[in-house]
This record gives sequence, C-alpha cells and structure tokens, in this order.
Amino acid sequence: MKVGIVIAAAGQGKRMGARIPKQFIELKGKPVLYHSICLFKEHPFIQEIVVVTSKEDMAQTKEIVKDFAYVTVVEGGKERQESVLCGLKALQNSEFVLIHDAARPFATQDLINRLIARVAETGAVIPAVPVKDTIKVVNEKREVQSTPPRQSLWAVQTPQAFRLSTILEAHHWAKEQQFLGTDDATLLEAKGITVHIMDGEYSNIKLTTPEDLQVAEKIIEKKGGEKDV
Ligand code: CTP
Ligand code: MG
Repeated sequence: MKVGIVIAAAGQGKRMGARIPKQFIELKGKPVLYHSICLFKEHPFIQEIVVVTSKEDMAQTKEIVKDFAYVTVVEGGKERQESVLCGLKALQNSEFVLIHDAARPFATQDLINRLIARVAETGAVIPAVPVKDTIKVVNEKREVQSTPPRQSLWAVQTPQAFRLSTILEAHHWAKEQQFLGTDDATLLEAKGITVHIMDGEYSNIKLTTPEDLQVAEKIIEKKGGEKDV
C-alpha cells in the first residue's frame, strides 16, 4: 500500500496573531511544522511527503525539511483548499493520501495507523471527536436560530485520509464549481460520496489562537515523558 502525505503549511496564522506564521513557532526547540512532519516519518507505507508553503515562506520551509530525504516543498495558494490541491498534484507515486494541517503537531502513531488501515477499506475516513459544548446556530444579528442535537455533532480533525484519485477529482470539481469547503471531506460530501469517521483524539488540537500554545506546551511536556517527540 502506497500512502502519500500532504501537509498544508501555507497559512499566515492571522488568528494566532504572532510575529511569524504559527507553523514556525517553536515547541521544545523545534518548529511546529517539524513536529508535524515527524508524525509521518516512520510508517512503512508512507513513501512521500509534500509540504505546501507560501512563496514568502519557501526558504524557511526548505530549511526545516532539509533533514528529511523524502519530503518535497511546493507553493500553495490563498485558501487552504488551493494549497491542498497544489500538494495533491505534487504526489508522484501514491494510491492513498493523508491530508494534514501543519498546525496539528500532536496526532499519534495510533491514529495514523488506524486511518491507514481504514482508508484501504472505505476510501474516505476522517478523525472526529464528539463535541463537548452545546452548539448554537446563530444569524448575522447574533440571534440564536436553533440548537442541533449534540449527539449528532462531531468536531473533525486532520489527518483526513482518502483514495488519491477520489479526492483529486473532488478538488478539481470544486475548483471548477468555485465551491469552497473548510476541510477536504466537505468536497466529497458535496459530491454525494460517503465519508466515514473514526475516533479522533482530544489532544490532537489545531494551534489556532494564542491560548492553544499554552495547551500545546502541556501536551508536549506530557509526551516528552512518554517518548521524545
Ligand atoms: N493553510 C494553507 N494554505 C492557506 C491557508 C491555510 O496551507 N492558504 C494551512 C495552514 O498553514 C494550517 C492549515 O491550513 O496548517 C489550517 O488552517 P488554519 O488553522 O486556518 O491556519 P491559518 O490559515 O494559517 O490561520 P488563520 O486562519 O488564523 O489565518
Ligand atoms: Mg485559515
């Protein structure tokens, strides 16, 4: 089984509001992007890793990936979806792909193993956790419209795993239709293709706002006690 990885790292991290894009913020002395690449470096089925970055961050990204022989770097786009398509097109020799946010450095080997096993059976599987909060649908005037039942709500994460041909076709279709989704699975849903979920991990957080960095320090401290990350 040949599995490629696309790591989306072309964002600017506006909500983080740091001096630098969040994928370059250091945790335990290494950039977040470095930790995210490391998640995929030992799996026997993973043949190639494509990191997507912005034009401005190309040099810095190449510096970070230089120790990894099987990693290539390509330029992304203005939206995450465009960046992911650039990454997918750069894969040379993969039947399946895991699409991951550089800003999620804490996915475990167990999660990656489970995703790879399941994508071979289903063609499309994404990790998700039940939401803990009650979620409201709110209009532009900030009035509550409705409250979807919590048992039907799951917060989805990355890596999201797909058969490469299926997700590539969905991305090309979305580009043509000018359809923009907030994750890759949405593009399959829009085409009526079934997406399966599997148990994600509450610790697999996305670094989005400054508060997340404090949580990240705690998670990495705990992981350091288990093994070096
Ligand atoms: N991303 C990307 N290309 C873009 C925008 C985002 O590759 N044009 C990547 C980010 O680098 C990140 C992931 O997609 O790893 C998830 O996006 P998000 O958390 O929204 O990151 P940013 O867009 O960088 O942050 P913000 O939306 O706060 O500006
Ligand atoms: Mg963004």
